[in-house]
Amino acid sequence: MNRLYDRVAIVTGAGRGIGRATVLRLVSEGASVVVNDIDLEPAEETVALVTEAGGRALACVANTVDAVEADRLVATAIEAYGKLDILVNNAGTTRDKMFHKLDDEAFDLVMDANLKTGFHTTRAAMPAMREQAKREIAAKGAVAYNRKIVFTSSVAALMGNPGQFNYTAAKGGIIAITKTLARELGPFGINVNAVAPGFIETRLTAARQAGSGYGIPEEMRQMAKAIISLGRLGLPEDIANVTAFLVSSDSDFVSGVTIPVTGGQLGGM
Ligand SMILES: NC(=O)c1ccc[n+]([C@@H]2O[C@H](COP(=O)([O-])OP(=O)(O)OC[C@H]3O[C@@H](n4cnc5c(N)ncnc54)[C@H](O)[C@@H]3O)[C@@H](O)[C@H]2O)c1
Repeated sequence: MNRLYDRVAIVTGAGRGIGRATVLRLVSEGASVVVNDIDLEPAEETVALVTEAGGRALACVANTVDAVEADRLVATAIEAYGKLDILVNNAGTTRDKMFHKLDDEAFDLVMDANLKTGFHTTRAAMPAMREQAKREIAAKGAVAYNRKIVFTSSVAALMGNPGQFNYTAAKGGIIAITKTLARELGPFGINVNAVAPGFIETRLTAARQAGSGYGIPEEMRQMAKAIISLGRLGLPEDIANVTAFLVSSDSDFVSGVTIPVTGGQLGGM
């Protein structure tokens, strides 16, 4: 399939995991992609994988918790590829703590990484997406094609999850802003949707190593399999497949929804 021929995309948090798989999938469908991450080396590795596969991508290290960095990220896409059609707000992280032990630092860090990054990057994209659509509507009465924004929520926000007050606050916020932005941007032919991944095999769900801020206890990983109807944890590609649909013209009449991609996880469907 070549559904994204000539499209330009930004994927945030694309040096690892779901973001990297999303970049590779979008490129395989013809898109040129700006690979954003806070870490240079993994971002460059993603670009190298794209180049090996014969696609077009470049790395942009930016922490879009900072609005100026978000502006620079979007400017990089415009400078390199001339426009911006697709924004995948994938950057995010966890700092799990039971609620009674949750400090302000862990609350702010998770709200910033999961919610503020999407706010800043999406606002920075408005001149390239909304204003461009307005120009097309003024000139021809309709947009040339629909532009697409995808946010990344989580099954944790759909179900609630002990130890994730901060994370579910941010990911629940994403479900709400997806609906609000879908209503604001629909008149400009911009579809806004979200994916809500279940347990996906990345460093966020790997067996927790002592001293690492990431991962979950091994017992939780085993328990997850028992409550997933399809009997396995997901792969980053399982999310990339759904995002590819949401950024393609196949989803032109889908907006404001959050799609659970959980393998039929009980309570998260
Ligand atoms: N893995 C899962 O089971 C799961 C489940 C639900 C939701 N999610 C969400 O999916 C998204 C991707 O997660 P993943 O599992 O691939 O994690 P990951 O840790 O493997 O990859 C996330 C990437 O985001 C980058 N990042 C973090 N903060 C950033 C920032 N401020 N700016 C730019 N980049 C930043 C990290 O450096 C990392 O490379 C996240 O939003 C996560 O919350 C994951």
